[in-house]
Amino acid sequence: MTQASTLVCAGCGAVLPFDSAEPYACPARGVGDVDHVVGRTLDPAQVRFPTEGGDPNPFVRYRELFHGYQLGRARGLRDEAYVDLVRELDAEVAKVWGKGFVTTPLGRHAGLDDRLGSVVPGGVWVKDETGNVAGSHKARHLMGIALLVEVTERVGLARSGADRPLAIASCGNAALAAAVVARAWNRRLDVFIPPDANPRVVETLERLGARIAICQRAEGTPPGDPCYHGFRKAVDAGAVPFCCQGPDNGLTIDGGATLGYELVSQLAESGVVLDRLFVQVGGGALASACVRAFHDAEALGVHVRLPRLHAVQTRGAYPLSRAYARIAARIGSRLGLDPAHDGLDRAMRLRGAAASVVEEELAWAGSHRSELMWPWEEEPKSVAHGILDDETYDWLAIVRGMLTSGGHPVVVDEATLVEANEAGRESTGIDVDETGSSGLAGLLDLSKRGLVTPTERCGVLFSGVRR
Ligand SMILES: Cc1ncc(COP(=O)(O)O)c(C=O)c1O
Ligand SMILES: [Zn+2]
Repeated sequence: MTQASTLVCAGCGAVLPFDSAEPYACPARGVGDVDHVVGRTLDPAQVRFPTEGGDPNPFVRYRELFHGYQLGRARGLRDEAYVDLVRELDAEVAKVWGKGFVTTPLGRHAGLDDRLGSVVPGGVWVKDETGNVAGSHKARHLMGIALLVEVTERVGLARSGADRPLAIASCGNAALAAAVVARAWNRRLDVFIPPDANPRVVETLERLGARIAICQRAEGTPPGDPCYHGFRKAVDAGAVPFCCQGPDNGLTIDGGATLGYELVSQLAESGVVLDRLFVQVGGGALASACVRAFHDAEALGVHVRLPRLHAVQTRGAYPLSRAYARIAARIGSRLGLDPAHDGLDRAMRLRGAAASVVEEELAWAGSHRSELMWPWEEEPKSVAHGILDDETYDWLAIVRGMLTSGGHPVVVDEATLVEANEAGRESTGIDVDETGSSGLAGLLDLSKRGLVTPTERCGVLFSGVRR
């Protein structure tokens, strides 16, 4: 029998062994100018997307869609044992954070609809992650990794982990989420942070027992983010990449996809079809996970399609938008499109391009990474500091999502980020921060340019709480 889940590198096509103990990064990582990122595909003959009702904990409800679940089952772990594992870890998370994982709300807010009614009359649906574990969507990624690692240990693929630390480079939501899950899981976590990290976050990290390494930019150190170098060194020395970046740990997308699975279920249950989805992009794991979720659901027979995807970045740094523009221009020239065409028309024309043309160009992109993605040249600044990654690590999956859905990137200015945050907070009562409401800023920007038509229904994610 074939395996229910398969791990494939999206860049080089390498298929990883199904029962690999550490299926995090492509074995050929670093070889060629290739965008090596491990992804997971599912066999629709063996996996079903759960419909109707279901468990409020997304890691229980959508468990069949996890590589870790399929791996455990194939190696003799019973379904009940996997569910127990999720519940036990979730109960520990609840002890640390005060609550565990439950489906987060999706809904309309009359105040927001009133406020945006003239420019987005079709309505705005908000998925609110601010009440999630550690105050953002990030813990989803890390809970997914924890469950996978736990399975590899329980079925005897990996040695038991007490002596195997976890590592992450981040100064904000991801580090906090990692510290909460690591504490709940009783694992040692090394966090690599910059000297100017938010002191309140650092204090919480310390309280949660994370070991903190402050990474200075110093002469003689390699170029690029010193926190990332510290993280890489720890991983090379044997730490689990407990991170939210696909190239370092492709399986981080599995847990992140629970947000999208919930969205798919919630939309199906309420009979709503979104026309557009705005997702704020820093490193890109969140948007990549949303693309994955819709594609998984579609592949598993759910009557759903990825809405027109808009990756939202700030004028401070928009490496993804830069990469998209180059690929879109290549496809556009093959289609004979006028480069002066307005963004909306153009994206729909690109979506209408023959799938073979798009696939060829995406394959080209995957093997010419350095021509499309490189670190932002200046030190980026924005009120939406959570999306200032100088490189979009999970860029190609998002570019694919935009091209195939007829979406396109939106780059927003600071005034719009502030305006969206004020509007979002005042009209919904949700205490979201500027990073968390930057998707709404993308919607505001597009709508003010008259690019949202009156019937279109738009989705945004409020991804993180104000601290
Ligand atoms: C609240 C919030 N939203 C969105 C993002 C962006 O997620 P990603 O880095 O996966 O693109 C981040 C990342 O730090 C975040 O903290
Ligand atoms: Zn590869």
